[in-house]
Amino acid sequence: MVFDGHVVLLHAFPLNATMWRPQVEGVPAGWRVITPDLPGFGNSSDPPVNTMTGMAEHVLRALDSMGLERAVIGGLSMGGYVTLALYRLAPERFEAMILADTRATADNDTQKEGRRKMIATVRAKGATAVADEMLPKLLGATSQKEHPDLATTVRGMIESTAPDAIAAAAEAMMNRPDSTSLLASIEIPALIVCGEEDVLTPPADARALHQQIRASRLELLPGAGHLSNLEAPARFSGALRDFLITLR
Ligand code: MLT
Repeated sequence: MVFDGHVVLLHAFPLNATMWRPQVEGVPAGWRVITPDLPGFGNSSDPPVNTMTGMAEHVLRALDSMGLERAVIGGLSMGGYVTLALYRLAPERFEAMILADTRATADNDTQKEGRRKMIATVRAKGATAVADEMLPKLLGATSQKEHPDLATTVRGMIESTAPDAIAAAAEAMMNRPDSTSLLASIEIPALIVCGEEDVLTPPADARALHQQIRASRLELLPGAGHLSNLEAPARFSGALRDFLITLR
């Protein structure tokens, strides 16, 4: 089958590619959605990688192995950090960019301390303890109240993640560089999405991305928290569809 275009969506921490199921099902005709598992996550048989550049190189190799020269590339949260790292390495591979519930800034000292604690927690107590700690922040207040099934789904994803992958990705996020200066060089179209109830990368972070990426559009999703693609799947997929249609 010949496709009009390809969309590569990179998952959040500490989840896996299955989080993109609503978008895989909701893409416009002619587009193929590719949702790789980052190394060590989901069904990946590759060893975990503890740098953002290393994760981006992994995605680059996946594009090469599929013979994909250019694609619409994006991600949610950690997937957005990997997207920016990939843009730094290979901007020519981007037809357009999607940045959902993410930020360009590096971790501050408090956030780095939080990463160190998480690495210690996952090593001592496993992925369940990470799920206990993260779930109240990953899902927005509306989802926590109205969609208890989502918490079960997300917990399942976290608990199935290998502790080594969680620790390596936490280290990669802790040491990621600030990408703010990169934003002004992004000339391709960009879709920026954020849940209005996101407490981890709040709408202010999305507005900052929108202000600094010239050809960007911003979609704030009511009733959704950090995992906006799962919490407001129809609105997220609608924003993605509308964006893809502008590219053809
Ligand atoms: C994510 O959802 O990928 C993480 O919450 C990102 C982060 O902790 O910075």
